Amino acid sequence: MGKVITSAWRKESWRDFPIKQHPVYVNKSDIESVERELSSFPPLVFSKEADSLKDKLAKASCGQSFLLQGGDCAESFSQFSADAIRDMFKIILQMSVILTFASSRPIIKVGRLAGQFAKPRSSDTEIINGISYPSYRGDLINSQELDKRNPDPLRLLKGYHQSASTLNLLRAFSQGGFANLERVHNWNLGFVANNNFGKRYEELASQIEKSLRFMKACGIDVDNTRQLKEVSFYTSHEALVLNYEEALTRQDSISGDWYDCSAHFLWIGERTRDIDHAHIEFLRGVKNPIGVKIGPNASKDDILRICDILNPSNEKGRLTLIVRMGSDKIEDKFPSLLRDICNDGRNIVWSCDPMHGNTKVASSGYKTRSFTDIVNEIKSFFAIHKAQGSIASGIHLEMTGADVTECLGGVQDISESILHKSYHTQCDPRLNATQALELSFMLAEILEQS
Ligand code: PEP
Ligand code: CO
Repeated sequence: MGKVITSAWRKESWRDFPIKQHPVYVNKSDIESVERELSSFPPLVFSKEADSLKDKLAKASCGQSFLLQGGDCAESFSQFSADAIRDMFKIILQMSVILTFASSRPIIKVGRLAGQFAKPRSSDTEIINGISYPSYRGDLINSQELDKRNPDPLRLLKGYHQSASTLNLLRAFSQGGFANLERVHNWNLGFVANNNFGKRYEELASQIEKSLRFMKACGIDVDNTRQLKEVSFYTSHEALVLNYEEALTRQDSISGDWYDCSAHFLWIGERTRDIDHAHIEFLRGVKNPIGVKIGPNASKDDILRICDILNPSNEKGRLTLIVRMGSDKIEDKFPSLLRDICNDGRNIVWSCDPMHGNTKVASSGYKTRSFTDIVNEIKSFFAIHKAQGSIASGIHLEMTGADVTECLGGVQDISESILHKSYHTQCDPRLNATQALELSFMLAEILEQS
C-alpha cells in the first residue's frame, strides 16, 4: 500500500487545505456564529447507526447484500412536504421489495435525503438573459432567485432543521408500522398502479401477501417479527459544505472516535475528490462509511491514493466507490481500472451511479437523461464485474416518488417535447416513480442471475 498521511487530523484540519466548489462567506462573524449554533445542536444520527450501516456495507462488498441508494439530486426548501418524503420512502420500499424478492439478498436502504442540499457546479457563473450571475449551488448555500445568489450562512441552520424533521418522519415511517410488510400493497403510488410496472408490482405484492399468510398458517409469529414490521433506513448526502459538516462532527464518548453526525453516510463528489484537498482531508478523519464518486478521468493512481488516505486499514464497508462514467465511456474506462484495484487487494463496495455520466441537454434546453443510457450503463457495470470476477454491490440513483417528466424514455415513452410538462428538479433530472420501478425490475433480473 502507498504512502499514508501522517499529519494529525482534527475536525477543522480541512481548513489548511485547498478547497474547490466551496461557498465563500464574506462576513466572517456571521458564519462563525452559525457554526457555533450548529455545534451546539444535537447530532442528527448516532455513531452506532453509522457503524451498523458500515457492517451492512461490508456484507454488500462480499455479495451478501445489496446497496440501494437514491433520492433527489438536490432537496429543496420550497418543495419540502410530508407527502414528498412519504412518496420517496414508498418508492424506495417498493424498489427494495422487488430487489429482495429477486436476489434473495437483504437490500440496504440509503436515501439521498435529510441533508442533500448542496451542489457542485461545472461553472461558477451562469448567463441568464445576457447577464452573468453566480451559479445556484443548492438551497444550503444560495437561492435560485437571481438577486439572492450570494452564499447565506443562515441557510445552514435552515438545512439542519429541515434535515431533522425529514429524519424524524423517516424514523416514524421505518418503525411505526408504515413499513410493515403486510402493507406491501399500500406502497404503490396512485399514478403508477395502472401502468405495466405498477401492475407487475401488484402481482409481486400479492405473492408476498400470500407467503405471509402461509407463514402465519405454519405458526410463525408474523405479527411479532420485527424484521417484517420495521426497516432500517439510512441517510446520506454529499459532504460539500465543510463548515456544516464540521459543526455536526462529534466525538463518540466511549470509543473517542469522530463521526460526522449530519448523516449516516457521506460522499465526496467527482469534482472535489482531489488528493491533498480539503474534502478528502475532512472525511479521512470520521468513522462513518463514506463514498467517493469516480468519473471517466480517474486514474488507477488516483484511486489507490484515495484508498490509502480514506481507508488505510482496508476495512470492509468503509469505502464505497460510486462509479459514474457514462454509458458511452464505461466499457472503455472501467475494466482496466477495476482489474488494477482488485489486483491490489482493496476492499471496495462497488456501486453504480448510472445518472451523472449520462446527462445531456435536450433541444428544448432542459437538462435530461435517457432511460436507455441509464439501463445500458447498469448492464455494462454488471457485465464488467462479472468478467473480472468481482462484486457489483450497489446502485446510486437520482429519483423521486413523484410523476415528473425529467428523464426521457421508459414505458411512458417520455419524449423531449413533453419534458416541460412536469419538470421540477432543483438541479439534475430524476427518474420518476414509474421509471424507478421499471429500472428495479430490470435490475432484479440481473441480480437474480448474478
Ligand atoms: C451528484 O451526485 O448529485 C453529483 C453532483 O454527482 P457527481 O459528483 O458524480 O457529479
Ligand atoms: Co445530481
